[in-house]
Amino acid sequence: MKKDFTKIGVLTSGGDAPGMNAAIRAIVRCAVYRGLEVTGILRGFSGLINGEFEQFDRRSVANIIQKGGTILETSRCNEMFTVEGRHKAIDALKAEHIDGCIIIGGDGSFRGAQALTEESDIAFIGVPGTIDNDIWGSDYTIGFNTAVNTALDAIDRIRDTASAFERIFFVEVMGRKSGFIALTVGLAGGAEQIIIPEIKIDIEDLCRNLTESFKRGKRSSIIVVAEGNQLEDTINIAKYVEMRLKVESRLCTLGHVQRGGSPTATDRILASVLGIAAVEGLLDGKEGTAAGQINGEVVYTPFKDTWEKKKSIDERYLRYIPVLSI
Ligand code: F6P
Repeated sequence: MKKDFTKIGVLTSGGDAPGMNAAIRAIVRCAVYRGLEVTGILRGFSGLINGEFEQFDRRSVANIIQKGGTILETSRCNEMFTVEGRHKAIDALKAEHIDGCIIIGGDGSFRGAQALTEESDIAFIGVPGTIDNDIWGSDYTIGFNTAVNTALDAIDRIRDTASAFERIFFVEVMGRKSGFIALTVGLAGGAEQIIIPEIKIDIEDLCRNLTESFKRGKRSSIIVVAEGNQLEDTINIAKYVEMRLKVESRLCTLGHVQRGGSPTATDRILASVLGIAAVEGLLDGKEGTAAGQINGEVVYTPFKDTWEKKKSIDERYLRYIPVLSI
């Protein structure tokens, strides 16, 4: 059902992702264009609960499209797991006369938005922003493309030193329980192996494959490991392989480097499309959903589906990696 809004709010929540600022910009500009007032809610759900608001106008979001992080700042808010915390959040929105709210974040943020939808008459809509790309309802999430390119740049550099020393390098990438970053970076970076949460691998198979590749003349290897893999901590995998193969190895954990930096054009465009889609979705009565893009089309997916349904990894990539690293 279409709704009339006077004032909407916007917040970023959970792990920041490059492109969140481009999304904030699109939301604020589109809302102003459509005659709405916009309140920026600072520090995610924690700031919402504490009533940390700032009135935004079209100029508030000038010169941010190229910036990493989030000008609104973010948080992981335990209070949102309690009824009291959520009631405080709803009261704060009502006191500010906000009747629609856009949540930019990942699955944890959408769980919060779903709870607030059930417990109030305020309209919530989501924009998927996380480097992990683990949200059902959008082919890609904002920040994923930039994180992949950042990790790729690091792997290209690591390859130089790996080959100079004839070492095996284990490169650990983020992604929580999903292997999208590892798989994409692994294929694009010419990795010899990838270890991801979605696929159970045997460490002896890994050792055998590496031994075979050394027999074929390889002198160095890059193994991309997703932080949430099922096997072991990456340091233990590296130690075991070193002990079994009697070759020198090193571990490089890319960590939060992957979350920073200026967003790529792909992420800025996705953020602009989804930011506008979120405002238009609110006005069109699409509350309780997250705006996403599938095959180039904007779609609205119920919050619950965004975390209950699981996006699968591209099986072709898995098959290509051993072929291309022969
Ligand atoms: O969800 C994004 C993410 O960067 C994950 O890939 C990672 O596991 C986690 O956040 C790290 O969270 P924090 O910044 O709280 O350490």
